[in-house]
Amino acid sequence: MAAVQQVTLSNGVEIPQVGLGVWEVPADQVQQNVETALELGYRHIDTAAAYGNEEGVGAALRATGLNRKDIFITTKLRNGDQGYDQAFVAFDDSLKHLGLDYVDLYLIHWPSPKRNLYVQSWAALEKIYEDGGARAIGVANFLPEYLNVLLDGSDIAPVINQFELHPTFQQAEVERVSKNEGLAVEAYSPLGRGVDLKEPEVLDVASRYDATPAQVVLAWHMAHGRIVIPKSVNRARMEENINSVDVHLSGDDVALIDSLERGNLQVFDPREAEFSQIR
Ligand code: A2P
Repeated sequence: MAAVQQVTLSNGVEIPQVGLGVWEVPADQVQQNVETALELGYRHIDTAAAYGNEEGVGAALRATGLNRKDIFITTKLRNGDQGYDQAFVAFDDSLKHLGLDYVDLYLIHWPSPKRNLYVQSWAALEKIYEDGGARAIGVANFLPEYLNVLLDGSDIAPVINQFELHPTFQQAEVERVSKNEGLAVEAYSPLGRGVDLKEPEVLDVASRYDATPAQVVLAWHMAHGRIVIPKSVNRARMEENINSVDVHLSGDDVALIDSLERGNLQVFDPREAEFSQIR
């Protein structure tokens, strides 16, 4: 089985560097998807209340014989549940849906600047953390302008910033500021939703390492010390993705992939993402 490295977060908690992302995995397929992942050696699953599939993730966990403490589970506070009081209600709902009594990581899903409730929401996450409901707390999609406000207005710093990051959309400034502030960087849509796998430079590197394009892109992320959560509902591709831990790129090839940046956003701009993610 692939030897996935652990990344140590600023509060000492370890997170497996490769996880399975389940955004857009339909609720009736997610249990099978997660069971397959666990069978293949994945020990880190990234879901969210907004994905509507926490129940299936929980069912998969119960169906395996694995110890709860050996699996890292992330879920997220949706936009429509932001605010101090509402965040506690939402967190309890997530635990109920997952069938768990704690999660490993709880994130604010989007800053939602027009709501302007993320500082209050964060105060609730701090309390959830202190009470043992989450072993670690962090943020997702926080550009520096939001991260700085949060850091100024909080007692406990987030341990992670999860955001869209792939060869053609690198958000170098978000990564730089996050790392400077001691946050680990977690790349979602690390393959650019599959689009970046067709880049000629990626194909070139893949042919030279006897690796697949996805493995090259994931190895590039890991060379930068990032955590990655590629999504796949296909067993062979899931296996391919976790086996990327055995691909080690040269400095020149890392630089070649670095050169692919062209502002190619594939998901949502955090300044605009205000959807309420209704239950
Ligand atoms: P599928 O689920 O059918 O495998 P990202 O994580 O960057 O959002 O990318 C997810 C997309 O990339 C999905 O469409 C997924 O399709 C596809 N994908 C995931 N892993 C691989 C892979 N190893 N090779 C090719 N496509 C992949």
